[in-house]
Amino acid sequence: MKNKILINAVVNSILKVVKNLSKELHEPFLPKKEFKFINKTLHNKKFMIGPFVKKFEDKLIKLTKSKYVITTNTGSSALHISLKLIDVKNNDEILIPTLHYISSVNSTIYCGATPHFVDIEKNSLGVDCLKLDNYLEKISIIKKNKCINKRTGKIIKAIIILHTFGHSADIQNILKLCKKYKLILIEDAAEAIGSFYKNRHLGTFGKIGILSFNGNKTISTAGGGAILTGDKTLAKRARYLISNSKIPHIWKYSYDQIGYNYRMPNLNAAVGFLQLKYLKKILIEKRKLYKKYKKHFSKFNFIEIMDQPKFSKSNFWLQTLILNEKKQNIRDLILKKSYENKIMLRPAWELLHTLNHLKKFPKMNLDNAIKIHKRIINLPSSSYKIR
Ligand SMILES: Cc1ncc(COP(=O)(O)O)c(C=O)c1O
Repeated sequence: MKNKILINAVVNSILKVVKNLSKELHEPFLPKKEFKFINKTLHNKKFMIGPFVKKFEDKLIKLTKSKYVITTNTGSSALHISLKLIDVKNNDEILIPTLHYISSVNSTIYCGATPHFVDIEKNSLGVDCLKLDNYLEKISIIKKNKCINKRTGKIIKAIIILHTFGHSADIQNILKLCKKYKLILIEDAAEAIGSFYKNRHLGTFGKIGILSFNGNKTISTAGGGAILTGDKTLAKRARYLISNSKIPHIWKYSYDQIGYNYRMPNLNAAVGFLQLKYLKKILIEKRKLYKKYKKHFSKFNFIEIMDQPKFSKSNFWLQTLILNEKKQNIRDLILKKSYENKIMLRPAWELLHTLNHLKKFPKMNLDNAIKIHKRIINLPSSSYKIR
């Protein structure tokens, strides 16, 4: 079939699936009746400090079974604080899959450390553990319980894994790698609220995990994030760091370290708290949407739709098409045609190691990511029929 016909057929299939749904990439869901609670928060004028922060955190604890949850003003600030909590500094390298959101690198650089890019595998679009193991065998040595990069002399301190588009990375092998190479595991579960690996919520396997509640996430507080940890000392320190390192006191304002104003306002927490009530329903709708897309795309032999990896339950945050190599040349044409039809698809983020200002940082062979990146399309993924 000619490419033009294929492109039209793909775009028409998307249109059929999202006919009565939002054509945006992802919009949050909040029924009108819940707005009266938000009005109440406004009426009480408790914009910044108020009861919803704790209520929202308690609900997140119930959902994730994380021992501690500390909400923040963004997922990016949650990542930054995560690295502060494990004392990342300038002689450290942080392993980051090259297919990752920019905040992972920014947080690393804010701490004066070096991002070190690693490859992904096709199945989960998360870290390729086998390849990383072979690479670390070659370039690192363990000394005094620390993983030293033999080429740079720096400490490879941690890895920030990503649960891409809400799908679980290969947790079991990642945990083995972290043990073997003495790496601290930070889980970026920004996209993964409601996703599980072997019945355990993503973001709770590492020393620290983070969630995001920005405008396009499954649950949105406009801007917002959360730090998940099982460590009481870290949780206490996180709360202190995000409050400008204020010494706790009823009326006195004093600070004893550099801190950050990263708290989630009460108003945003109220929005998150109200939405969480609908999470179960939203996830059911998102799974239905996945099945619809799967049915419509099964007729194209050059397209795969990303399914949940083994042992996991995905939230299907962003539905994802992967074109085969022979048809990757039509990816951008599909995007263009969709935009003309006001359907908001998107490609994956540009690979981090290719960004001009990041080219100088160390990296392993990244062939898998380079190959697959050109073939990814995220589809409109809101679940809008529930009211
Ligand atoms: C994988 C990933 N990490 C981190 C973030 C940062 O979250 P936020 O936008 O809340 O700062 C995002 C948000 O887009 C994300 O998708």
